[in-house]
Amino acid sequence: MARRYADAVHIAHRESLRLTAVQAPVIPIVGRWIAETPGTISLGQGVVSYGPPREAVEAARRFGGATSDHRYGPVEGLPALVDLLEAKLASENGIQVRPASRVLVTAGGNQAFMNAVLAVTDPGDEIILPAPYYFNHEMAIVMAGARAVAVPTDDQYQLDVPAIAAAITARTRAVVTVSPNNPTGAVYSSAALSEVNALCKARGVFHVHDEAYEYFTYGSARHFSPGSLEGAATHTITLYSLSKAYGMASWRIGYMVIPEALSDAVNKIQDTLLICPPAVSQQAALAALLVGRGHAAAHVEELDSTRRLICDILQADDVPCDVPAAGGACYYLLRAHSRLNSMTLTERLIREHRVAAIPGSAFADAAPSSIRISYGALDADSIAEGVGRLVSGLRALACSS
Ligand SMILES: Cc1ncc(COP(=O)(O)O)c(C=O)c1O
Repeated sequence: MARRYADAVHIAHRESLRLTAVQAPVIPIVGRWIAETPGTISLGQGVVSYGPPREAVEAARRFGGATSDHRYGPVEGLPALVDLLEAKLASENGIQVRPASRVLVTAGGNQAFMNAVLAVTDPGDEIILPAPYYFNHEMAIVMAGARAVAVPTDDQYQLDVPAIAAAITARTRAVVTVSPNNPTGAVYSSAALSEVNALCKARGVFHVHDEAYEYFTYGSARHFSPGSLEGAATHTITLYSLSKAYGMASWRIGYMVIPEALSDAVNKIQDTLLICPPAVSQQAALAALLVGRGHAAAHVEELDSTRRLICDILQADDVPCDVPAAGGACYYLLRAHSRLNSMTLTERLIREHRVAAIPGSAFADAAPSSIRISYGALDADSIAEGVGRLVSGLRALACSS
């Protein structure tokens, strides 16, 4: 009897099978290799070097004087912030929020994505992710009990719309696009995004579009919001983040534009996960948004020159890798000429050459030896030193088995 009881307890105390199927985050693994290799320069983490505008920090300092500061707020976010976001969406993105849509403030773009997945899927449903994809998107889909269907992009990491169309089944609930893209840095044209949006409309699925890097485009690349298209409001969910745009990753503020018809569903999810977005961060976000996109613009020129410098170095004939064009975000996903898989390549770059990247396998990249490098967080000297080490490492590990 005691034995049977113990077995039952053992069986009960396991994690959910859904969670077992979720890939383990790769950043902590790479982080451990870095910690074990002092002096490593990390081209891994996708963060920006700057913090929020001074006005945002001052707003946070002023917070706490009113009793209402300590109470729950509206589920969708503070009215003043929601109003400001609606104005921003109209003027910068061409998205007319009302009457067909709603804005909801979230604890970052990742929570906004989880809200979207939970709102539109039932267990066993499918969501299409052009690959390589942002790993947290796939993780959220699997966590929700749905299935991520990867559709490869082309060799320049651009969308393959006919392949996306062919992947839509009766169980498909959404197609996700991210532009500018993490992990590839690709920026999709307005024509390609319009095609995907029209396809989603015609096939009765949602178009979930992540614009976390909307302010980070370079050269001739232009940002485009498919939510601005006529008739898009009823089937388009657009996600934003203040993490990169305002250097506010730790403040956990993002927002989403959802079709009005999803309001009840998303409110239930938000009420359960968050009740309301953190009030102090919302006050800081409000102040940041009043400063506006000029805060990021001041840094974009510098990021662009770093991006061009890296490209010039890595595209030289004697560097054994291919570097597809990247007109946005702060990433290159390069394909090393190596027989090592991307995990091993990453570990050896860290341990033997003291430079860190993120293995392409984390993003389901079909190329076996790809790595993502990020140039958002480091000063010019560290980037130059890091890329120098990367070049030595790629040469040493070229076609290595
Ligand atoms: C495409 C994309 N979406 C969302 C996020 C997460 O943003 P947040 O910090 O707002 O959750 C990231 C972070 O790297 C990202 O790359």
